[in-house]
Amino acid sequence: MTSIRPKTDPRAWRPRTRLVRAGLRRSQHGETNEAIYVSSGFRYDDPETVARRMAGEEAGFVYSRVGNPTVAMFEDRLAAYENAPVCRATATGMAAVTAALLCHLRAGDKLVAARAMFGSCVWIVQELLPRFGVKTVMVDGSDLEQWAKALPGARTVLFETPANPTMEIVDIAEVCRLAHREGARVAVDNAFASPALQRPMELGADIVVYSATKHIDGQGRCLGGAILSDAAFVEKELGPYLRHTGPAMSPFNAWVMVKGLETLELRMKAHGEGAAKVADALAAMPGVKRVFYPGRADHPQAAVARKQMSGGGNMMAFEIAGDKARAFEFQRRLRLIDISNNLGDAKSLITHPATTTHQSVAVEERARLGITDGLLRLSVGLEDPEDIVDDLRQALGTN
Ligand SMILES: Cc1ncc(COP(=O)(O)O)c(C=O)c1O
Repeated sequence: MTSIRPKTDPRAWRPRTRLVRAGLRRSQHGETNEAIYVSSGFRYDDPETVARRMAGEEAGFVYSRVGNPTVAMFEDRLAAYENAPVCRATATGMAAVTAALLCHLRAGDKLVAARAMFGSCVWIVQELLPRFGVKTVMVDGSDLEQWAKALPGARTVLFETPANPTMEIVDIAEVCRLAHREGARVAVDNAFASPALQRPMELGADIVVYSATKHIDGQGRCLGGAILSDAAFVEKELGPYLRHTGPAMSPFNAWVMVKGLETLELRMKAHGEGAAKVADALAAMPGVKRVFYPGRADHPQAAVARKQMSGGGNMMAFEIAGDKARAFEFQRRLRLIDISNNLGDAKSLITHPATTTHQSVAVEERARLGITDGLLRLSVGLEDPEDIVDDLRQALGTN
């Protein structure tokens, strides 16, 4: 491993070029494709080298829990694409969310979070953090007055936008402005939009977390997570946490993610074009009460979505008339779209959040968020959108 890096500073390239080239480290063999370095440990020519590396006095790999060449390619590529100072990869998106919070929150700190979030994130905020003396306050993410009221005394802010599964949009720039006024740090879960459609750090966020499992892989193969931040946060808080608690990404998964990044912009463009057609068709189908898609003018926060997203993305939610039995029957009748609690795949996937991803969220809280028994989440894949529309139509019994 010679760690030969490109001669050009990757950040001098345009974003699409960075997705294909940034972070590439070629071995002495000069391979064109990124190599997978499957090794838990590393060897040294002399004991002084390992001592210097372990003391942080010399760059170089020491152990794959701490760093690995293939993982570093993924981290450097994502950081370069998003113009973020540093990226650190994790085994899953939840490992990224947990690490980003636990690495710096302490007993007595206050966290303010948006209510509409992935079920496991709600569990971290409402169950895990309070066990360690962190006070947590939940607000309606789209209501800036609630943020302003809750923020005094906060150390950290966490929200997703668009949120899982309601597609609620939080105004990133405004919440960052309010939070920074109070000296709080802002962490944004950008899994739904992906870095191709939304850049929270450019809008003021201090930390961005990803479930790379979703659009970064994009083909439903591997789990992964990523955290972007400034260098001081990694050096003082995140780096030691990751090193000592060990939620590392595997080299193989990092390789899949590196290859996923190469096609991210192209896929998100095709996903978005398909999803826009599907959302419009769904909105016109009898039996569909409401469609929540950030690219549609009738989205409750359409103006904010337009301001901070460069496209509507592939995720939407829609509510059909009837109860849980009707929602289940509709899913059973689908012939192309797969029933799955995952998202961000080349294959279109449908989810019933109330009984899956948000099963652990209290019934009253689900009702408050609008996660009704008739609400379905659709991750539009890369199939021909007309086939997706035909499938939805036949399953609803409207053709
Ligand atoms: C918004 C959001 N954040 C985090 C996660 C967790 O990611 P992972 O499944 O990779 O742990 C998910 C998973 O669905 C998600 O939708």
